[in-house]
Amino acid sequence: RERNEQLSLLSGKKVVVTAGGTIERIDPVRYITNDSSGKMGFAIAAVARDLGADVTLVMGNTQVQPPANVHVIPVQSAQDMYDAVAGEWDDADIVVKAAAVADYRPKEVYTEKIKKKGDTLSLELIKNIDILETLGKQKSHQFLIGFAAETNSLEMYAREKLERKNCDLIVANDVTQAGAGFGTDTNAVHIYDREGLVEELQMVAKEEVARRLLSIAAERIAGRN
Ligand code: CTP
Ligand code: CA
Repeated sequence: RERNEQLSLLSGKKVVVTAGGTIERIDPVRYITNDSSGKMGFAIAAVARDLGADVTLVMGNTQVQPPANVHVIPVQSAQDMYDAVAGEWDDADIVVKAAAVADYRPKEVYTEKIKKKGDTLSLELIKNIDILETLGKQKSHQFLIGFAAETNSLEMYAREKLERKNCDLIVANDVTQAGAGFGTDTNAVHIYDREGLVEELQMVAKEEVARRLLSIAAERIAGRN
C-alpha cells in the first residue's frame, strides 16, 4: 500500500526539468559550453516519471543518454532553452532548473568560419537571459526549484539566489567537494527554502537527491490545497 502511494505520488502532475549545459555559438564550427553532464537533471526526470508524473525534459548539451519515457526537447542556447521552457510553463506543476545555463554568449555570431589572423583574438560576450529569474517573475501555481553551484559561502549565495529568482526551493552544491557536482553519479547538497535549511544530503546518489527533492515538492504542493 505504502509503495503504491509512493508510485503515484506525482500522478496527474506535470514536471518540467532542464538539464545539461547550453551551447552558445561563435561561428558555424565553434561554440562555448560548460562541463555539465546532465546527470542531476536526468535523475530528477527519471524519478519523477517513476512517481507517475508527466515529464518534459528540456535537454541541453550532454554526452549522457536521457531517461526513457519522458518527453525530450533538445535545445542549444540559453535563449532556445528559455523558449522551450516557456512553452511548457502554463500547465506545469513543478519546474526544476538543473541545467548549467551560460551566463554570457558571443555578442556577434559569425555566419562564416572565423579565419586565423593576428596573434590575439578577442570575443565580446553579452549577458544571456536568466531563465529562472524570468520564470520566477511569472510564477503563479508552479512550484519552482533552482540549483546553485558554489565554491564558497554556499548558504549565503544560495539563499540570495532563492530570493532573487523567487524559487520555492534551492538546491545548493559545493562544487569544490570531490564527488559532488559536474560529471559525478553522486552529489552532496543543502536544500533551502525561504526559512532556511530544509535538508542536508551528504554524498548520496543523484537519484536519492531527486527522490528527496520531489517528495518535499509533492508534500508542499499537497499542503497548499
Ligand atoms: N540559471 C538560469 N539562467 C541563467 C543562469 C542561471 O536559469 N542565465 C539558473 C540555473 O539553472 C540554476 C540557477 O539559475 O538553477 C542558479 O545558477 P547559477 O549559475 O548558480 O547562478 P547565477 O545567477 O548565474 O549566478 P553566478 O553564476 O554568478 O553564481
Ligand atoms: Ca551562472
